[in-house]
Amino acid sequence: MLFLIIFTLLINTFAIITLTIDKQYQESKTIQKLIQSQYQVIQNIQNATFYFQPFQTDQDKYITVELIFGYPQDGNVNLEFSITKNKENNTSSQNNVFYDMNGKYLYKSYQMIRINPYTFNNNDKFYIDVNILDSSFTDYQYLIKITKNQKRLCPNQCGNQQSGLCNTEIGVCSCNSKFIDLDCSKVAQSLSLKQPLQNIVIKKQEYFYFEREQQISNITLELGLMSSQYKVSDVEVYIMYENFELGLPNHNFYDYYISLSNQSSYSQVLDLQSLIFDSDIDRFQRLLITINSKQPAIIYLSIKISISEGSFDIDSSLVIVYVLVSIAIILLLGWILILIVRYKRSSRVHDESNPIQNPQNNTNNNNRRNQGSLDKKIIDEYMPKLQYFQILEFPQFLELEVQETCSVCLLEYQKYAYCRFTPCNHIFHSDCLEQWIIKHENCPLCRCALDLKTLQELLIQNANITFNSSQQKNLQKKQSTGVQSQLFSNAQTELRMIAPNQMISQ
Ligand SMILES: *[C@@H]1O[C@H](CO)[C@@H](O)[C@H](O)[C@H]1NC(C)=O
Ligand SMILES: *[C@@H]1O[C@H](CO)[C@@H](O)[C@H](O)[C@H]1NC(C)=O
Ligand SMILES: *[C@@H]1O[C@H](CO)[C@@H](O)[C@H](O)[C@H]1NC(C)=O
Ligand SMILES: *[C@@H]1O[C@H](CO)[C@@H](O)[C@H](O)[C@H]1NC(C)=O
Ligand SMILES: *[C@@H]1O[C@H](CO)[C@@H](O)[C@H](O)[C@H]1NC(C)=O
Repeated sequence: MLFLIIFTLLINTFAIITLTIDKQYQESKTIQKLIQSQYQVIQNIQNATFYFQPFQTDQDKYITVELIFGYPQDGNVNLEFSITKNKENNTSSQNNVFYDMNGKYLYKSYQMIRINPYTFNNNDKFYIDVNILDSSFTDYQYLIKITKNQKRLCPNQCGNQQSGLCNTEIGVCSCNSKFIDLDCSKVAQSLSLKQPLQNIVIKKQEYFYFEREQQISNITLELGLMSSQYKVSDVEVYIMYENFELGLPNHNFYDYYISLSNQSSYSQVLDLQSLIFDSDIDRFQRLLITINSKQPAIIYLSIKISISEGSFDIDSSLVIVYVLVSIAIILLLGWILILIVRYKRSSRVHDESNPIQNPQNNTNNNNRRNQGSLDKKIIDEYMPKLQYFQILEFPQFLELEVQETCSVCLLEYQKYAYCRFTPCNHIFHSDCLEQWIIKHENCPLCRCALDLKTLQELLIQNANITFNSSQQKNLQKKQSTGVQSQLFSNAQTELRMIAPNQMISQ
């Protein structure tokens, strides 16, 4: 008795349980719960349903369900494989059905569905449906494998590195050359621009691929029968841009279709825009070609750059090169010019920030003063020369948006640059403003007049505004009288700085 228990335990842990899905199973109306990670299934009836439930600890894992067929062979498996989450709960079932169409479209003997982590919880039930579409089927035999993994598994482990490598980031196989399909399971011949393929025997079905090495957009695919002996052949060509849901083009799924039933040759322009460089698989995606023939056929297959496009390409690329080069030269010259102008300006500003080094300027200004207009001394009086950081400490600039560049020379202010600010509260490099104001007698920014008379008037106004605003601030902040009076005296010192002669005249 004990021996028997141990024996069944051994069977359960080490042997793969076989499930027979037959009429009896159908009539019992029970649905087999899958607890083990692998089951061998013999399916006698059209539709089989199983279910499994993930554990609490599976939440962060990919759940992969694989069907690996022992019978029938690859190419003859004709069924629909799907998984439905919470089938009895059919309110939002549309979002909860996963399919692998490789059985329905490609009759493949390997099929796989992957469920992403955090898309389920441990109450959810996943129903596996295997519905055979082949009407004259006999026992289908397959292995169901349920795997839980932190990484994305690739279909069929990409042929165990013989034919491709798995990129677990995206769960997609990078097939080696000569291999195509989702699991790199099909051998294919490579087509290149240099070498057309001749004398290819198509017995039943052959695969080809074109991988572009360069950035060409359109190609012409030419194919035809090599031997008149096989004229009667019904050659069918299915062409597809490589995608990662269906591995191969076939009669159910393709982007281009060519039939050679009545012609001995054919050519087709193919747009290659969709074949983009895929950094995950580290190559251009490929153009996949399946050729079927009911009877053996000998064909040729070649690819050319579309002629009209090709010649256009060369011309246009030359024109583009010329245009780009001339634009670059123009930009470079412009940039150099700007640099020179800026350098001259900035060195000028630098030189003139020290008035002692410019005695000539002073004499000029003195002459001007004698003529009765604004001169440097008056400007110094009304708009004293201060370093930029000092100016920014004035209350009006704490409130206003600070100008960071001088709008006369367009240069950015350095912290210690000598600047002046106008009664209309605009900051300029001291020398920039000087030169401007002597010529124009207005503010370079807002154009408000800055002649001697208006300068005096504006200054009075400005002083009042400054004074009022600091008073208002005090009221708003409800500060103590001690602080108020302190600020009041601050305001007075500010006034003195702005208008020394104004205060004296009062
Ligand atoms: C099997 O399932 C399909 C679709 O799910 C359904 O159309 C068909 O009638 C079912 N066959 C049987 C014998 O229950
Ligand atoms: C599922 O949908 C069918 C048809 O819409 C309805 O008859 C059935 O009651 C639903 N089942 C559940 C569990 O809601
Ligand atoms: C129906 O769906 C909800 C939400 O996904 C889930 O909480 C509940 O358990 C489901 N009911 C059944 C009977 O599975
Ligand atoms: C192809 O050729 C066969 C016989 O040579 C003819 O009966 C058939 O109509 C042709 N089909 C087309 C589409 O031309
Ligand atoms: C490529 O071919 C397609 C279809 O023939 C055409 O619409 C497209 O304009 C072509 N592209 C170029 C760049 O010639």
